[in-house]
Amino acid sequence: MTNKLDSIQISNICCIGAGYVGGPTMAVIADKCKDLRVTVVDMNKKRINSWNDENLDQIPVFEPGLKEIVGRARNKNLFFTDNMEDSIKNADIIFISVNTPIKQSGLGAGFASDMKWVEKCARQIGEMAIGHTIVVEKSTLPVRTAKIIKEILSSTSSNKFNSKPKTFSILSNPEFLAEGTAINDLINPDRVLIGGEDENAIEVLSNIYRNWVPNQKILTTNLWSSELSKLVSNAFLAQRVSSINSISALCEATGANVKEVSNAVGLDNRIGNKFLNSGPGFGGSCFKKDILNLVYLCRFFNLEEVADFWYQIVLINDWQQKRIYEVIVRKLFGNINGKIITILGFSFKSNTNDTRESPAIKIANYLLVEGANLRIHDPKVSYEQISIDLQEFQEYKSDESVASWQYCSRISDAVKDSDGIVLATEWEEYTKLDWEKISRLMKNPGWVFDTRQILNGKEIKNNGLNYWGLGEGDEKKEK
Ligand code: NAD
Ligand code: UGA
Repeated sequence: MTNKLDSIQISNICCIGAGYVGGPTMAVIADKCKDLRVTVVDMNKKRINSWNDENLDQIPVFEPGLKEIVGRARNKNLFFTDNMEDSIKNADIIFISVNTPIKQSGLGAGFASDMKWVEKCARQIGEMAIGHTIVVEKSTLPVRTAKIIKEILSSTSSNKFNSKPKTFSILSNPEFLAEGTAINDLINPDRVLIGGEDENAIEVLSNIYRNWVPNQKILTTNLWSSELSKLVSNAFLAQRVSSINSISALCEATGANVKEVSNAVGLDNRIGNKFLNSGPGFGGSCFKKDILNLVYLCRFFNLEEVADFWYQIVLINDWQQKRIYEVIVRKLFGNINGKIITILGFSFKSNTNDTRESPAIKIANYLLVEGANLRIHDPKVSYEQISIDLQEFQEYKSDESVASWQYCSRISDAVKDSDGIVLATEWEEYTKLDWEKISRLMKNPGWVFDTRQILNGKEIKNNGLNYWGLGEGDEKKEK
C-alpha cells in the first residue's frame, strides 16, 4: 500500500507531561526514530531537573531498561524542559500525557475525571501553537473528551490577538503500558490504538509507530471507540483481579488453594492464565480511577445496572485490603497496640517506585489506627514518598496514640523484634530471604503474612514461624 503522506515531513514531537507515561513513551519514540526531535515538557521544574540529572539513577521514574534508553537519547534527540511556549510552537505533533485523577470535590466528585490539567493543556496549545498541529490524547480520558479539546482549541486559537492562522487535528492514542514492564510493553505492544477522523493525521501518527511496530498491530477506530476501549481494557483487567481475589476468600473458607484454582481455571484457553494472581487488591494510579470513571459515564447515560456491575469490582478490591488487615489483627491475638509489624514492599507492584493507590498504604493505615509500630522496607520507594503516602495518619494521630512508623533501608532492621511480617509487594528479593536469620531476629511467636503467595510457607514454618498465605485454605480443617 502506498503511503499518501510520504511527502509530509514530521520533525518535531512534543509531549506535555513528563510522568510515568510521558517519560518512558517519548524515550522509546526518540530511541526508535532517530530523525525526530522529541521534547518532553512539564510544568513541574523539579521533575524536569530530575529527568536531566547526570546521574541516571536519579531520573524520576524507575523502570527496567529506561535509564539506558534515556542515557542513549537524552540531549541528542530527546529533551526534557519546562519551556512550554517553545516546545508547543515548534511541534508538529503534541501528545497530551498529563494526569487525569478522580475529582475530589464538586460535580461528579469521587467518580468523574478531573479534567483541569487536560483543559489547561488544550488552552496552552491553542494559544501557543503555530500552523497545523496534530494533538494526540495519550492520557486516559472520558469518552467524548476529544470534542471538548476540539472546542477549546478552536475557541482559544481564534483569539483576536492571534494573528497567524492555526489548525488542529485531534487523535486518540491511549497508552496500554503497565508499570514495571513499561519499556518492553512500549517496544513490543499487543496493539497500538489510534482513533480519529482525519485520515492524514492518523497516517502521520501510524508512520511514527511503523518504525518499530508491525503494521498489523496498528489498529484504527473512530475517536469514541478508542477513548472507550482504554477504559474498558483497564476495567476488564481489574475485573479479573477482583474475581480471583473474591475466590481467594472462598478458598480460605473451604480448604481450597487459590493458586491451584487459578492454575486450573487459567489452563482453559478461553479464559487464559494472565491476570489471575490473587493478592492484596489492585493498586496503581489507573485501575480504580478508570473504573470509577466508567461507572460515572454509565450513570450519566442512565445505565444504573451497568454502573453497579462495574462498581462491584472496586468494592471487592477495598474489601480485600480490609480483610487482610483483619486477619493480621486476629492472628496476633486481636491486639496489635504497640506491636512491631514489618511491611515488606510499599510500591503497588514490583519493579516500580510508584506507590499510587498501593494496597500497602491502605493496609498500613488500618494497622496504624490499631496502634501498630510499623517498620517499612521497599527496594525502590523512598522515605520521602512514604511520608507523603502516610500523611493522613500523621494528621489524625492523637497524642495518646502509640502508633508510629519507621522507614528501614535494611531488611534486617525492619524485621528486628517484629511480631509479624506482612509481605505486601512481590519484589524478587523477598523470595530469597534467609528465614533462619529472620526467625532469630523476630519476637516469638512470630507471624508471616504473605499477601502475594510468593514465599515458601513450609520453609518459614520449619524455621519456627507461623505462616499465613492469602488464599491458602487449610485442607484438613473441619468446618
Ligand atoms: P503523572 O502524574 O506521572 O504525570 C503527569 C505529569 O503531567 C506531571 O508531571 C504534571 O506535572 C504534568 N502536567 C500536568 N498538567 C500540565 C500542564 N498543563 N503543563 C505541563 N505539565 C503538566 O501521570 P502518568 O502516570 O504519566 O499518567 C498520565 C496519563 O496517562 C493519565 O491519564 C493516566 O491515566 C494515563 N496512563 C497512565 C499509565 C501508567 O502506568 N501510569 C498507563 C497508561 C495510561
Ligand atoms: C495497568 C494495565 O495493565 C495497563 O495496560 C494500563 O496501561 C495501565 O494500568 C494504566 O492505564 O495505567 P499497571 O497499573 O501499571 O497497568 O500494572 P498492572 O500490572 O496492570 O497491575 C495493576 C495492579 O493489579 C497491581 O497492583 C498488581 O499487583 C495487581 N495485579 C495484577 C494482581 O493483583 N494480580 C494480577 O494477576 C495482576
